[in-house]
Amino acid sequence: MNKIFGILLCALCCLLCVWPTAGNGQSVEKVTEATPESNPAPAPPGKLLLAIHYEALCPDSMYFIRRRLYDAMQNNSWWPVTDLKLYPFGKASFYNNTSKGEVEVFCQHGAEECELNAVHACIIESFDVRRAFNLVFCMLRSYSNELDNCARSMRLDVSKVRECKSSRKTADILSPYGRKTLELGLSFVPSIVFENDFDPYGQRSIRQNFEKHFCKQYLKKFNITLPTCGALL
Ligand SMILES: *[C@@H]1O[C@H](CO)[C@@H](O)[C@H](O)[C@H]1NC(C)=O
Ligand SMILES: *[C@@H]1O[C@H](CO)[C@@H](O)[C@H](O)[C@H]1NC(C)=O
Ligand SMILES: *[C@@H]1O[C@H](CO)[C@@H](O)[C@H](O)[C@H]1NC(C)=O
Ligand SMILES: *[C@@H]1O[C@H](CO)[C@@H](O)[C@H](O)[C@H]1NC(C)=O
Repeated sequence: MNKIFGILLCALCCLLCVWPTAGNGQSVEKVTEATPESNPAPAPPGKLLLAIHYEALCPDSMYFIRRRLYDAMQNNSWWPVTDLKLYPFGKASFYNNTSKGEVEVFCQHGAEECELNAVHACIIESFDVRRAFNLVFCMLRSYSNELDNCARSMRLDVSKVRECKSSRKTADILSPYGRKTLELGLSFVPSIVFENDFDPYGQRSIRQNFEKHFCKQYLKKFNITLPTCGALL
């Protein structure tokens, strides 16, 4: 009995594994080439541009990313409809250290935060956004550098991150993120920006009702109410 069931299950499993890869990929392409109107491939969902300006050692940033943003992305399955950008810079600033003749960076929570922000930046450079976000999420559980622990628990090879961090100056690594964040002149960290349209006075509401704002912004851009948005709008 068990054996037969096992074989059946295995057959089903094999079918499931093989089916989409072997079957669909090519035939869909052929069909759309030949008769594009009769069988159009479904359009990929549009992505809402979402920028998070945060700091590695800022409790409000940690709370927002770990307790609000992560849940919102997971629980609503919003990854396919989000173009997420992370900016680990916050209220930092660049200055010219004239005794060295070099541009350096000054961070709200001290030099340690600059170093950690730079680790985050290297993570963002080294992985696709979803993996980078998961690693950043893991890093933000503590005020110390969790890169090794997170890499181990996530079974990720972070050698590129280490190489990025050790081979370049902190100010250099943070430069592109700083440029984007400094443009905003933000007064609170984290700051959340939809579609490059910064609303400085709406930040508190966006932080506290993030999902509602996401839904509204998505509707505004695409005229689509996302599946889990109905009750929020
Ligand atoms: C997301 O789902 C988890 C697990 O089901 C739940 O604990 C959490 O409260 C949910 N978060 C939100 C914001 O709905
Ligand atoms: C400028 O660089 C020097 C030499 O490394 C260092 O001792 C000093 O603390 C730096 N100044 C500031 C304001 O960070
Ligand atoms: C920094 O200061 C030094 C010494 O005053 C100067 O030579 C250099 O041009 C400055 N660099 C920048 C980027 O402002
Ligand atoms: C938005 O979508 C609704 C139906 O979902 C449609 O009736 C309406 O005309 C659309 N508005 C615009 C501006 O496209």
